[in-house]
Amino acid sequence: MDQDAMKRAAAEAALAYVENGMVVGVGTGSTANHFIDLLAGIKGRIDGTVASSEVSAQRLKSHGIPVFDLNAVGALPLYVDGADEATRQLHLIKGGGGALTREKIVAGASERFVCIADESKLVSYLGRFPLPLEVIPMARSFVARELVRLGGKPVLREGFTTDNGNLILDIQNLEIMDPVKLEGELNMIPGIVTVGLFAARPADVLLLSTAQGIETLK
Ligand code: A5P
Repeated sequence: MDQDAMKRAAAEAALAYVENGMVVGVGTGSTANHFIDLLAGIKGRIDGTVASSEVSAQRLKSHGIPVFDLNAVGALPLYVDGADEATRQLHLIKGGGGALTREKIVAGASERFVCIADESKLVSYLGRFPLPLEVIPMARSFVARELVRLGGKPVLREGFTTDNGNLILDIQNLEIMDPVKLEGELNMIPGIVTVGLFAARPADVLLLSTAQGIETLK
């Protein structure tokens, strides 16, 4: 099975968590896109969705799936999204597509976060994938200096603006031994809007697609 087929298999497995009449939180990225396309096949069973990015909202709408503003719905029962890296503790790095802020909001508002990923995303320690941070433009240089003091190597994502009008700094050279602590420390730096570590609020379920089938981690 190639990597894309594995992503689709993980997305298929997430359909089992979708219940009739639900509003479903939907993530961003190539794995989440498979989930969106599969959701189209059962759209009559759900009330609608909340999207974590403009691009996912457009894809949902192109399938005729209703997309609601998060403010217009109560607590979300389910959020389904991919990840750039995941550990067996269900700590994640997200934001490779730059949608980390809305992803963190929708994940935080959801009762259950089901992460879908192919086995290439599973790591022992987070940090080989550069850690994305969404940063207010005027704070870019200040935040970058603070990150260097912490031992990181921040790189500006050239030519990229988030859905919220901000910048992304990707921190290279990190070996993240304590993701909850690092997430807390980075959250203290003024100008950082969102840290792409999902550790304080990890996934609740990781559906990991392997050559042998789906492994469910909780
Ligand atoms: C988007 O900002 C990211 O958090 C994605 O969820 C992550 O990059 C995974 O993307 P793929 O499913 O394309 O690997």
